[in-house]
Amino acid sequence: MKGIVLAGGSGSRLHPVTLAVSKQLLPVGDKPMVYYPLSVLMLAGIRDILIISTPAELPRFRRLFGDGSGLGLRIGYAEQHRPGGIAEALLIGAAFIGGDPVALVLGDNVFHGTSFSALLQRECADLRGCVLFGYRVGDPERYGVAEVDAAGRLLSLEEKPSRPRSDRAVTGLYLYDGDAVGIARGLRPSARGELEITDLNRVYLERGAARMVDLGRGFAWLDTGTPESLLKAGQYVLTLEERQSIRIACIEEIALRMGYIGADECFALGARLATSAYGRYVMDIAREFGAEAAVPRL
Ligand code: TTP
Repeated sequence: MKGIVLAGGSGSRLHPVTLAVSKQLLPVGDKPMVYYPLSVLMLAGIRDILIISTPAELPRFRRLFGDGSGLGLRIGYAEQHRPGGIAEALLIGAAFIGGDPVALVLGDNVFHGTSFSALLQRECADLRGCVLFGYRVGDPERYGVAEVDAAGRLLSLEEKPSRPRSDRAVTGLYLYDGDAVGIARGLRPSARGELEITDLNRVYLERGAARMVDLGRGFAWLDTGTPESLLKAGQYVLTLEERQSIRIACIEEIALRMGYIGADECFALGARLATSAYGRYVMDIAREFGAEAAVPRL
């Protein structure tokens, strides 16, 4: 299975902060925003990843992750010249996807919840059609909204409806089977001139091949698009991390726990950042996994 992180856009609700730097590189707590969606793909077991961003910003993502081999991943990069819509990611990534199933995640979505990894792996392993993840929100009119019947079947999908039929927002994580690129090729741009992901999902819905998985009460799906929500997301992350002495979306730790890299490699990644608490955390985790034997404690 392939993975795409879509990290373009204009971030206009964060102007002037995002005039000179990508929203997805801004900090959420102790790490860049893009670490959160990247960690979602990693936890799903996906190691072939394409990061899509604007031509101006792409070099910065490349500086952050390189070819991904340090994390046991294969990371490639592609440009989106203007915000042509979320579904455009499937066209930009068509050659990369190559008929495989694909997980598309938005670069500004922060997910956190118990057993998320197991849920993702289950859904990816048994993927037919498309799988969307729903989350109950107080302001559904701002999102793609899903209507679901009592049995959990998806009935309708609407993009930012003025009168939402439910309070279930469609989150920015989409799993697709091998048909997604073909469907995206058949989409027409919306009035906004964008290829809407809701239109693509609706094709799956009409085929009877769309499913929604509800992320329940125990989950956090956090917004980062405005100054207030960005700050709150950061506070959420820092509060949990301090209280539990664990880190959320620590990509080095995830790479180690998923078996993508070994303890010594993980330790070396942490050692490069040893002046930060984040780096020291990575080194501590690596030691727990036996890196101490090979690398003397500093
Ligand atoms: P949005 O929040 O819709 O757009 P934005 O990030 O540009 O912010 P603003 O509304 O403040 O101008 O996008 C959601 C995510 O999808 C975000 O990570 C950017 C990304 N995106 C793209 O990369 N390309 C696109 O064409 C669109 C529409 C979104």
